[in-house]
Amino acid sequence: MREDNLKLGVNIDHIAVLREARKINDPDPIMALGICAQNGADQITIHLREDRRHIHDEDVRRIIESSSLPVNLECSIDPTIIDIVCQLRPHRATLVPEKREEVTTEGGLDVSGQYNAILNAIKKLTEHEIEISLFIDPTPDVIELSSKLGAQWVELHTGSYANVYAMRHSSLSHSHHAIETLKLSRKELDTKLNSAYEDIVASANHARMLGLKVAAGHGLNYQNVSLIVDIDTIEELNIGQSIIARSVFTGLATAVHDMKVLCNR
Ligand code: PXP
Repeated sequence: MREDNLKLGVNIDHIAVLREARKINDPDPIMALGICAQNGADQITIHLREDRRHIHDEDVRRIIESSSLPVNLECSIDPTIIDIVCQLRPHRATLVPEKREEVTTEGGLDVSGQYNAILNAIKKLTEHEIEISLFIDPTPDVIELSSKLGAQWVELHTGSYANVYAMRHSSLSHSHHAIETLKLSRKELDTKLNSAYEDIVASANHARMLGLKVAAGHGLNYQNVSLIVDIDTIEELNIGQSIIARSVFTGLATAVHDMKVLCNR
């Protein structure tokens, strides 16, 4: 049981994904704001992708204007996007890598290879008093660099952990990546899962030791979240797909509430 309040950011992009399937105004992601706030969410997370495949600039503007919760805006480090984010002024910008062809954010930022570009983005965002988080793989050298760059937060990518967890605990593959592990024995999967988990624990502790605030996210769901909740140096989770998927059957209020209960177990 956690003694602090592990914060829950609900990523509502998938509501806009459904809207875009028909290119109409329904469902409107803005309708989720009050429901999330009333059912234990601590933050609204959205991603303004370069291709605008789900959330649009106008959504971001309206969401920031209407949300009673802080808005965490995920975005690439492309200077055009950063300029837009500076104008929109969310509470926080989470810098993420972005490839047009990917289904979702695959892997963390290349902090070493794109050091100067990230630094430029951070400088601009800081001038506009926007808090900064870097979405990174859970590895020690990337954490050191994130601290050097002057970010306030790191968000640890939990995708590898989630993939192996799904392979170990169910017959359903969580992603294409999981198929690679299909041939592994149960024991090998246990070793892989333990290693993915330990990377997150070590990275969270290391980041905290350097004075960074630590969030985590990607692929977290109602099953695999419990081990992550146990890591007390992580203070926030950002979860989208599993909550919105469950809401189709239970309603968004219950889906958010149930996840928040798990966060504070
Ligand atoms: N955090 C970041 C930085 C992300 O890019 C995403 C996916 O948009 C999430 C969290 C949420 O991931 P999921 O939808 O798999 O819960």
